[in-house]
Amino acid sequence: MKAQKGWSCFVFFVLRMTHVVWTQSFQVVGPSSAVLALVGEDVTLPTSLSPALNAQGFEVKWFRDDFDSPVLLYHNLQIRPELQIQSYKGRTSLFLEELASGNVSLRLQDIRASDRGLYRCFVDSGPWNEEVHMTLKVEVVGSPPLISISTAEDQQTRLECSSEKWSSQPEVTWRDMSGVDVTSQSTLTVKRDDEGLLRVSSVIPIKWEFNVFSCLMRSNTVRPAYQSKVGVYVFSPGISGWSVVFWLSLAFYVAVTIVLILKWRKM
Ligand SMILES: *[C@@H]1O[C@H](CO)[C@@H](O)[C@H](O)[C@H]1NC(C)=O
Repeated sequence: MKAQKGWSCFVFFVLRMTHVVWTQSFQVVGPSSAVLALVGEDVTLPTSLSPALNAQGFEVKWFRDDFDSPVLLYHNLQIRPELQIQSYKGRTSLFLEELASGNVSLRLQDIRASDRGLYRCFVDSGPWNEEVHMTLKVEVVGSPPLISISTAEDQQTRLECSSEKWSSQPEVTWRDMSGVDVTSQSTLTVKRDDEGLLRVSSVIPIKWEFNVFSCLMRSNTVRPAYQSKVGVYVFSPGISGWSVVFWLSLAFYVAVTIVLILKWRKM
């Protein structure tokens, strides 16, 4: 009988403790995949508590590698900029009015290439703390492509379309005057610079004739077509001017002939 009473006391105690821990415990939930942003934009790293506890009295610490140098620290009901990493000063905030509903999202302004990487959000309620991590991918869109012309040793004339400072390899498309995709004739070279960004150059052999080539480079990771950039090169060596005059004159004579024939028929 006595032993039984001891057991039920113990079970009650364990249940009670579990209950205490359970009601105060929470999870920090981050985005399910990496967050993407373009350089210069603002971005939110969406993070919330589950269940949606009131986090106003909690400590919220956003940091990267070093727990002691936070990107943002919220402690004792206010944001504390003293310990913040210098490069994030003036660029971070929390949605303070949303803290009561467990929203601990970080707002980052004016994204820089160096902001890319892992972020951790640590939330401490006192009896309980939890952490979540997520990746921020920062896309750098390169410079507008420039087209230059050169003649190689084998007398082959070629156009080179080049652009630099891309964070991920852009898709390159060459088109000729009639809009035909001639990319398959080109060769692509990609080099990484000191900052880890890419310099992209595409070379295409061309013939000496009147033509217009356009080179389009676009990022295929963020918002397709947003970064479309076109460089156009009008390639017209001396003789082509004459060929244009010839074809235009021919078209004119054909048109005149047709008109004359039609008039003659009416008569
Ligand atoms: C937190 O609040 C901000 C501002 O209202 C909102 O944009 C964001 O989606 C919220 N995040 C979560 C995870 O609820």
